[in-house]
Amino acid sequence: MIYAANFKTNHTRQTTKNYIEELKEKIAGKKTEDSVYIFPPSTALDRFEGDFTVGAQNAYPTQNGAYTGEIGVEQLEEFSIKTILIGHSERREIIGESQEIVAEKFAYFKEQGFEIIYCIGEPLEVREQGDEAVIEYLLAQFEGIDTSYDNLIIAYEPIWAIGTGRSATVEEIASTHEALKKTVQKPLLYGGSAKPANIKEITSIRGVDGVLVGSASLDAGSFSEMVLS
Ligand code: PGA
Repeated sequence: MIYAANFKTNHTRQTTKNYIEELKEKIAGKKTEDSVYIFPPSTALDRFEGDFTVGAQNAYPTQNGAYTGEIGVEQLEEFSIKTILIGHSERREIIGESQEIVAEKFAYFKEQGFEIIYCIGEPLEVREQGDEAVIEYLLAQFEGIDTSYDNLIIAYEPIWAIGTGRSATVEEIASTHEALKKTVQKPLLYGGSAKPANIKEITSIRGVDGVLVGSASLDAGSFSEMVLS
């Protein structure tokens, strides 16, 4: 299983350091076949050693240059960071990244050999139209994306389940993952209100290869409980 922690705009440089120290101790006994990823905010990126991978939540598709407020590959290479989240719904919806921009980023970081966790997810009004509409919407988010890229993990995150405390149901996750796997044969994470109380139920679903966790990952105790579940 893959357990990925997305801090979003939470934690500082200092609290990220403390978090990682605590997590390291707590997950010392994790199964070797399980992998752990941590996505801190860019100000907290650093060279952390341990049985986990640190990735960037976002970067601009450039080595360096005049892109005020952005970071590029040069700033990630300082810490040997080679993993990135692309297409998260908060970047699509709040920051306004179009499918075209997302695809451009994907192509650039693929070219750079990054491991990419590519996020897709539907809004509530699409989910309410039923399974077929959901799949059609999700597949459109693969437009311009090389889904055969070796270093690719997909994260299915229904927008209405993110940060709401309301996870998708087992049936919804199972049927969506099954449908997605017909098109994209890559590790497939579920994200959206995954927490210690529902982690076992979620990771037992066929077609779920791991979880991308926001709120419940912010506390090292809660996230390590999920990793060890
Ligand atoms: P959540 O966020 O766990 O707080 O729902 C998940 C995500 O956005 O990756």
